[in-house]
Amino acid sequence: MDLKNTRINYNKSEINFDDIYDNPIDFFLKWLDEAFENNCLEPNSFVLSTVENKTPSSRVVLLKNVDKDGFIFYTNYDSNKSRHILSNNNVALNFFWPQLEKQVRIIGFASKISASVSDDYFSSRPRESQFGAVLSEQSKKIEYNYDFNSKLSVIKKEYENKEITRPKNWGGFKVVPNKIEFWQGRPSRLHDRLLYELKKSGWQKSRLSP
Ligand SMILES: Cc1cc2nc3c(=O)[nH]c(=O)nc-3n(C[C@H](O)[C@H](O)[C@H](O)COP(=O)(O)O)c2cc1C
Repeated sequence: MDLKNTRINYNKSEINFDDIYDNPIDFFLKWLDEAFENNCLEPNSFVLSTVENKTPSSRVVLLKNVDKDGFIFYTNYDSNKSRHILSNNNVALNFFWPQLEKQVRIIGFASKISASVSDDYFSSRPRESQFGAVLSEQSKKIEYNYDFNSKLSVIKKEYENKEITRPKNWGGFKVVPNKIEFWQGRPSRLHDRLLYELKKSGWQKSRLSP
């Protein structure tokens, strides 16, 4: 491992500042599409940062929907991240697609989505994932020898031929953005950065120095 001498000279693409989208969500969808088309690993994963008191913390989650007003992910509502959001709904999202040399940084407010939207998504998940959501008290400390397999067998019997309903402490959050920055790696570390900030008049665009 040679950290000091490991670097890539980025040159795969550029942002054409003469022809940019008015709406950053349309631009985001274009880049997300590219990430899927180029078979990026976990193209819909992103780092979600939350703040508890003044301490930030980050973890990876999966984007499960995007619409004109925001970004939806699902989680356990009793988890650490949910606790943080419920006391301070300022969050940051970071998408990084190394194969495309692209990064998107989003700042916004997170809030719980409706129970019916969470129900619909939960019922579309594979049964194994549904069992996982039922069994995991996410972020709770557990014994090293905690036996998930035996719990799984018990619960599988319990739910045999039965639909698994969404646990009430599992569901989605929607992040409504107020800042979105697009970053495209460029040669000589002179990267392209395009910032969108939500103002009363709508999305305002600016170019940022690398
Ligand atoms: C690729 C990847 C995808 C993940 N997707 C999710 C997800 O969609 N929802 C989730 O709650 N945790 C997901 N996790 C697990 C989280 O990173 C984290 O471990 C978990 O949510 C607990 O975080 P917390 O204790 O900060 O609440 C994922 C992890 C990885 C590496």
